[in-house]
Amino acid sequence: MYVCICNNVTESDIHQAVNDGAYSLDCLARELAVSTCCGQCRCFADDVLHDALRAAGAREQGRGAEHASVA
Ligand code: FES
Repeated sequence: MYVCICNNVTESDIHQAVNDGAYSLDCLARELAVSTCCGQCRCFADDVLHDALRAAGAREQGRGAEHASVA
């Protein structure tokens, strides 16, 4: 689904950016130009960013648990 129509940014683009290290709307603005035109997408982009950060955190915890159970 598109998040930022002005810059053709999708939810998937934001999840990928988070996987590549983005952690804030400023990062997304720099990397993807989210919310740099009309700004109407800002709230939705923030929601998607937080979902992506939660998902990335859950993956990290899962990896930690895997390592803990192996050790
Ligand atoms: S919809 Fe994102 S800047 Fe316009």
